[in-house]
Amino acid sequence: MRRIFQLLILLFILALVVIQFFQPEKNKGEIDSNHILKSEQLPEEISSLLSNACLDCHSNQTNYLWYHQVAPVSWFINGHITEGKSELNLSDWGSWDPIDKITALDDMATEVKKGKMPLQSYVLIHRKAKLSEEQKASLTAWAESLSEKVLTGE
Ligand code: HEC
Repeated sequence: MRRIFQLLILLFILALVVIQFFQPEKNKGEIDSNHILKSEQLPEEISSLLSNACLDCHSNQTNYLWYHQVAPVSWFINGHITEGKSELNLSDWGSWDPIDKITALDDMATEVKKGKMPLQSYVLIHRKAKLSEEQKASLTAWAESLSEKVLTGE
């Protein structure tokens, strides 16, 4: 019985080691002039809110913590990044039509208002991403006012 138990632990450790060789590609692209932080004159508060709460999953650059690079956590994180970027990639902001920008801003405001973004699992680990009511209000007000500006072509 004890031998079987030891063997199982050994197999488990071995499996953990083996899966480390199967790592997703890291989300570490260049920041170019289309990135929202470059192509838009954002108020200081908004750029730090976006950086702290959204850009890890909604841009081509993720700030990884060490254990994000350990499988199977890395697979889980990569799933969020890939899915988040396919919905909204703020690294491409500058290349969008006004309609795309307005849609994205409206979606961002809605998700933040409803408390659906940033993802709960992310907020648990990234305390800076936990938005206070005031921060949610600033982010939504900003999204709404920028949306209006884009609409009127200012
Ligand atoms: C941990 C990764 C992560 C973070 C951080 C994050 N998102 Fe998301 N986001 C996702 C994923 C995954 C999806 C797609 C699945 C879904 O809608 O739940 C998504 C979807 C969205 C969508 C599209 C929703 C729709 O259904 O149209 C918007 C808009 C959005 N996020 C905005 C934000 C904003 C704004 C922030 C910061 C306040 C943020 N997200 C932070 C992962 C993230």
